[in-house]
Amino acid sequence: MNSLQVNLPGREYDIDIGLNILEKQLPEAVLRNGTDHVVVVTNTTLQELYPACIFDVLADSGVRVSTCVLPDGEQYKNLETLSLVFDFLMNVSANRKTLLVAFGGGVIGDMAGFAASTFVRGIPFIQVPTTLLSDVDSSVGGKTAVNHPLGKNTIGSFKQPEYVCIELSFLKTLPSRELKAGYMELLKHGLIQDADFFNFTQQHSLEPLDFDYLEQAIFRSCKIKGRVVEQDETEKGLRANLNFGHTLGHLIETHAGYGKYLHGEAVGAGMCFAAFVSWRWKELAQNEWEVISNTLRQYLQPIKLENLDFEIFNDLILHDKKANKQAVNFILLKKLGESFIQQETAVEKLWEEFKLFTTKFPEIVELE
Ligand code: NAD
Ligand code: GLY
Repeated sequence: MNSLQVNLPGREYDIDIGLNILEKQLPEAVLRNGTDHVVVVTNTTLQELYPACIFDVLADSGVRVSTCVLPDGEQYKNLETLSLVFDFLMNVSANRKTLLVAFGGGVIGDMAGFAASTFVRGIPFIQVPTTLLSDVDSSVGGKTAVNHPLGKNTIGSFKQPEYVCIELSFLKTLPSRELKAGYMELLKHGLIQDADFFNFTQQHSLEPLDFDYLEQAIFRSCKIKGRVVEQDETEKGLRANLNFGHTLGHLIETHAGYGKYLHGEAVGAGMCFAAFVSWRWKELAQNEWEVISNTLRQYLQPIKLENLDFEIFNDLILHDKKANKQAVNFILLKKLGESFIQQETAVEKLWEEFKLFTTKFPEIVELE
């Protein structure tokens, strides 16, 4: 097992990563919290694959365990589904001492975290991520949210978990497409902060699963994210670098309809586009652009966008929470392992680059 800590004043928490660790680590964390009631928030897919998993793990802990099962999918990451969590919490007489456990991927983690941050003005929660994406990204750092029809993750809060238990065995049932999508966020951490880590990933394959490699890679990925969050928890500046690829990624998800493309796929295409712009604007060397695009392309799915013109592109980007006037703070690469925030990048300039990108690489993003 590998462990690290996210050190935020008064809200520090541990992240444990390993194979077959849940059974020992989760009851200990629940015991540390001192609660007598745990509410597990999960979805129908996890409930079918791992019925009563958390319930069984906590069987000898002397706590009451209730399980709230939500419909599965990005299209359900909204206020309506969130209200089902609040209904459930009221029905099981949850109170300030109730501990939530988010058992699922990023959608469940984001919704359970938001419920925890608002129910009776805040209750504690633990993340038990079950996808690669949630292992390396969404379970760490305390961003919680639901989507609005006009913008991804526009309604949310910052709420750090009490503990994160990254049980690697859950990855055995994760479909290959989901694994690849999650790998994008892991590679992102190398691209923006740590060339050594990126090179380390180049020496390994994602599939077939190698748990020794995954444990090290997830550890390093969480460490990069954790250190950024410690310096800028609420994204006043530095943390925005973690949004590398997300300006186009969020646009793709919103425009195509939530759930059509996976978050990691949309972000992966967005990372490729951002690297392309970095090279075109003479920030990134050509050889690095080639290494980066060749790497990302191994994991990308072709994306097709219908009826996208400048006006829609502009509206979607400016609805993005990073938007400012007719310009956005766009994350570019200076080199492999170093990103920076290009303040007030004109959306019109990005549109010109995007059209060129789709002409040159229709196999990545095609305009129909
Ligand atoms: P997801 O939560 O939708 O999970 C993907 C799919 O895999 C779902 O169908 C799920 O039921 C299924 N699944 C989960 N675990 C499984 C397992 N072990 N075996 C088989 N199937 C399993 O998607 P995701 O990629 O985990 O997360 C994407 C979400 O995370 C997006 O909404 C994104 O906005 C959010 N996100 C948040 C942050 C953050 O900092 N809070 C960071 C990145 C992404
Ligand atoms: N995924 C971006 C962040 O956590 O800030």
